Amino acid sequence: MARIPSEVIDRIRNSVDISDVIGHYVQLHQSGKGFVGLCPFHEEQTPSFSVNEQKQFFYCFGCGRGGNVFQFLMELKHIPFTEAVAEVAQLANVDLPSQYLNNGEQNTRQENNTPNGKLMVMHEETAKLYHHILMNTPAGAQALKYLKGRGMTDELINDFNLGFAPEQRILKPFLEQKINDYQLLRKSGLFVEDNNGGLHDRFVDRVMYPLRNQNGRVIGFSGRVIGKVPAETPKYLNSPETPIFNKRRTLFNFDIARKEARGTSKIYLFEGFMDVISAYSAGVKNGVASMGTSLTEEQVGILGRAVRQVDICYDGDSAGQNAIDRAVTLFRDHQPQGMQLRVVQLPAGIDPDEYVQQNGADKFAKYLVDQEETPVDFYLRFYRLNKNLNNQTELISYLEQSLKLLATLSSSLEQDMYLTQLAKEFDLDKATLKSQLQDISRQLGRRNRHSQPAALLQNDGSPAAISVVPSSSPAPQRNPIKRTELAEQLLLRYMFHDQEVWDHVAAINDFHFAHERYQTLYLLAESYFSEHGEYSAAGLMDYLKEDSLRSTLGQIEQLNVDDVVNMQLIDDCVQLIQEQIPLSQKIKELQSQIREASSLNNSELATQLTMKLIKLLKKQQELKAEETN
Ligand code: CTP
Ligand code: MN
Repeated sequence: MARIPSEVIDRIRNSVDISDVIGHYVQLHQSGKGFVGLCPFHEEQTPSFSVNEQKQFFYCFGCGRGGNVFQFLMELKHIPFTEAVAEVAQLANVDLPSQYLNNGEQNTRQENNTPNGKLMVMHEETAKLYHHILMNTPAGAQALKYLKGRGMTDELINDFNLGFAPEQRILKPFLEQKINDYQLLRKSGLFVEDNNGGLHDRFVDRVMYPLRNQNGRVIGFSGRVIGKVPAETPKYLNSPETPIFNKRRTLFNFDIARKEARGTSKIYLFEGFMDVISAYSAGVKNGVASMGTSLTEEQVGILGRAVRQVDICYDGDSAGQNAIDRAVTLFRDHQPQGMQLRVVQLPAGIDPDEYVQQNGADKFAKYLVDQEETPVDFYLRFYRLNKNLNNQTELISYLEQSLKLLATLSSSLEQDMYLTQLAKEFDLDKATLKSQLQDISRQLGRRNRHSQPAALLQNDGSPAAISVVPSSSPAPQRNPIKRTELAEQLLLRYMFHDQEVWDHVAAINDFHFAHERYQTLYLLAESYFSEHGEYSAAGLMDYLKEDSLRSTLGQIEQLNVDDVVNMQLIDDCVQLIQEQIPLSQKIKELQSQIREASSLNNSELATQLTMKLIKLLKKQQELKAEETN
């Protein structure tokens, strides 16, 4: 493979805009002269990933990664340089002579020669054939009439490339003349195999919905029975799992929805394909649906990385509400940080498709906006299902359930709003509800934070007692950790396990750990608590993405400490740490100034402050190095 001349590389790089390419993978928002977004290379809640259009590079203030468009793709997709160049060349429509490419390139033209690429081409040819049959042949007439009867226009049918698989099994001869590869046909999932290895068209007499992957390539089909569904016949028949089709990772219409969401940063999650298509016809093009199976963890991850907000929009009947509950729970457990979840519950027994048919596009679009609610709103209603709130016992159990939910909210303002709402609706004293909520919060906190049996040990409470030896290391450590670090570990250990200690420390004005990793651990634990409301070492471990942080947490959990909290010890730890603070304090202040400057779009000031920050961080590094030497 020849080396790509540098002028070719330059030309390719100059023919795209880095923000367009990155915008494919990261939701970017204009900020000052550039764009910002959530860094795709590390977990974060507030955007520290920036794209500079003028300089055509990206930089993440969080993880320090940066580079040009090629490095972005290399890092993101774990591909070599030439592949990144080839990919950009394709986006830019620049011809990159094939002598520069090795096999298995990521770009489409090359990809079409890989086994998976061939499978996609096969699916695309099939979709074309089915579409042609639907639109232009007598065999498709009945199916076309059915779709028109459901309110579909030619344009809509074309947009989704819908088709019809006729009674006569025509796909095999059609594909065989193009691709003479039995194993590949067999793997495609487009055929069922008989006992003798003979292949027969899988889809027969069905309206065909092509399924596309994130890049818009066809990877499978779902076929619907025309009209009324006979007993014992599945209404929809899906492609089986194949090398290119993974149901758990596929979302219907995701490729389009992601592009449409660039403005709003929101995607609607519907239950069925027809819902997505109807919403699309009503102008709501940022809709997706899972693949018949209920929503998966993988799909939650895909959505969370693509947009800031997902609206779950299901039927309002009790099955639909249970599905909403399942989906909300899945998002709660697996959604990437910083993503917002909303619910739009439709009137009972009506799916979005039916709503559009009955009320028209405008009303539907308005409904989506007007009826959008938080998951808490949804649950406050959901808990009422099958309860008679005129009955005092059931009302009390409803209120308890609701208060437990409110106890998990991190915003006291939000809690207060809902308390007002509940008090008003049931004509109750708000103060009573509030004190009950506080009791529940305390119970939850205490129970969960003590869920880890604390180890027994000495500890007379004097600062000297800080020289605890981790119980896991039978041999004395060769590099005994310094006093400050031990104080930090000990403090975190008590904070994690005891709400009172946590609150005590959190209330200290400007408190900051002396070492960044403990500060980071503290901040991450804080957001972990606000999401989970309880402490579990294993849970927090999963939450931490960095090996070094996990190992620090491990160290902390291994400490042999007294179960009983001695507040004097806590204060001694705090004091010891704060003596170390001047430098880290400055750093912290700078960081918050930078955040402020960025939020005011004052990028010049932000840059100036960042330079200062870098200097301080360097100094801190040096000090740290000295400390460990
Ligand atoms: N589904 C499926 N197999 C079935 C029934 C349903 O895979 N036998 C999936 C499809 O993805 C469908 C979704 O579940 O889109 C929701 O099912 P349903 O609400 O019954 O379908 P609708 O989208 O309402 O389809 P239609 O309006 O055509 O009946
Ligand atoms: Mn329907």
